[in-house]
Amino acid sequence: MSDKYFTPSIDADAPLPDLGNERIASDRFSSPEYMKQEWSKLWRTVWNIGPRIEEINAPGDYVIHELGEESFLFVMGKDNKIRGFYNVCQHRGNRLVMGKPCDSAKFFKCAFHAWSYNTDGTIKGVPNPDTFPQFKDGLPKEELGLEEIRIDFWGGWIWFNLDGKAEPLLDFLGELPEQLAPYQIENMRLLEYKTFLWDSNWKVACDAFNESYHFRGLHPQILKWSDEMAKIELHGIHSRMINKYGTTSSPYTGAAEVFPELKEWMAYNGMDAESYEGAPEDVWKAKTAFSRSIQDQPHITAPYKDMTDEQLTDVYHYFIFPGFAMNVFPEGVNGFRYRPHETDPNKMYYDLILLVHYPEGQQIPCERKFFKEKVRYDQIADTPISYIITDVLQQDADNVSINQLGLKSEGFRGMYLGDQELRVRHFHKTLDSYIKD
Ligand code: FES
Ligand SMILES: [Fe+2]
Repeated sequence: MSDKYFTPSIDADAPLPDLGNERIASDRFSSPEYMKQEWSKLWRTVWNIGPRIEEINAPGDYVIHELGEESFLFVMGKDNKIRGFYNVCQHRGNRLVMGKPCDSAKFFKCAFHAWSYNTDGTIKGVPNPDTFPQFKDGLPKEELGLEEIRIDFWGGWIWFNLDGKAEPLLDFLGELPEQLAPYQIENMRLLEYKTFLWDSNWKVACDAFNESYHFRGLHPQILKWSDEMAKIELHGIHSRMINKYGTTSSPYTGAAEVFPELKEWMAYNGMDAESYEGAPEDVWKAKTAFSRSIQDQPHITAPYKDMTDEQLTDVYHYFIFPGFAMNVFPEGVNGFRYRPHETDPNKMYYDLILLVHYPEGQQIPCERKFFKEKVRYDQIADTPISYIITDVLQQDADNVSINQLGLKSEGFRGMYLGDQELRVRHFHKTLDSYIKD
């Protein structure tokens, strides 16, 4: 291994912080009033993750990104600078750019009265300007440009903030950029960007993905190829957990059979599963040895050399408050963005964002896709993804609406959380700290 910085592990024996054990009331998952408070006190104040930088390569390239009732336009101007704007025409308030979420334009023309804007957000032209007495001395450019928002960059993403008083992005992210540096996420490229309309509040999905206590109930097959018990660590408003892959959980611990799921995990990682002769719970050791054996080969793009042994086999799940989580692997990232619906607290948008390390200079064009109806993930994946992954994604997708139904029940007394769900409690406590007056 090189002598570069390495991601610290989590000490499984370190005592977990005591965040109390009271129930968490569930009206926050369906209350329109709470949803309004979230917009003004949470989404408008935090740093939000936006498009990938690689989606905007040349002057005129743009991405439309929606959050709640707002739409934002991220675009590169002729000066090669990327800017972010509210996607709204300053004449009569039409939403300015509609249609494909990623495209390229020489300028933007509003569909209502044809006011046009340059890619740097300045006003380009107004039809019949002499009918506006306000323009007798020329177009007041400083008054008519698009409303700009604050943006910054980290990890290959454009981040945006709607609050002029917010702390710098890197302060908001805390220790995470340093911990994640060895993965070189900024050098990864989009493989898939899929958005799903789900019948649940955004926090239902957020909570479901922030603990592995649900493996046993919702994903029992995972017990055959991973350790359900997570190591957990809180980092300010963010958090992370680590689950070992390539092993087994009870009741499969000590089993003699190397289960098909374990063999699939090996094959998915490029290993020769049939020649494996060890115990089922030790498959991760073979993965470590395999990754070390190939880490110097010229075609290997994953930064195995900068990884600890644990990172070669375990899934590091990072949660960036309030609405982005990612499973981070040396080879890539499976990102989960939870966005609030524009009007309905019982709905949300779930962005599944897959990134991988491509060979330098190569990029497979990634087309963003939106699925309004329920779909089977294994039928809409554009790239070959193992069934051990798609099955889990599907089970999670199928359960959020069921959870939403119960959370609204008058007979539900509030969430009752254990230690393996500490990140859920931490998330809601952090949310409380934003929402309280
Ligand atoms: S609202 Fe855009 S040109 Fe009138
Ligand atoms: Fe899950």
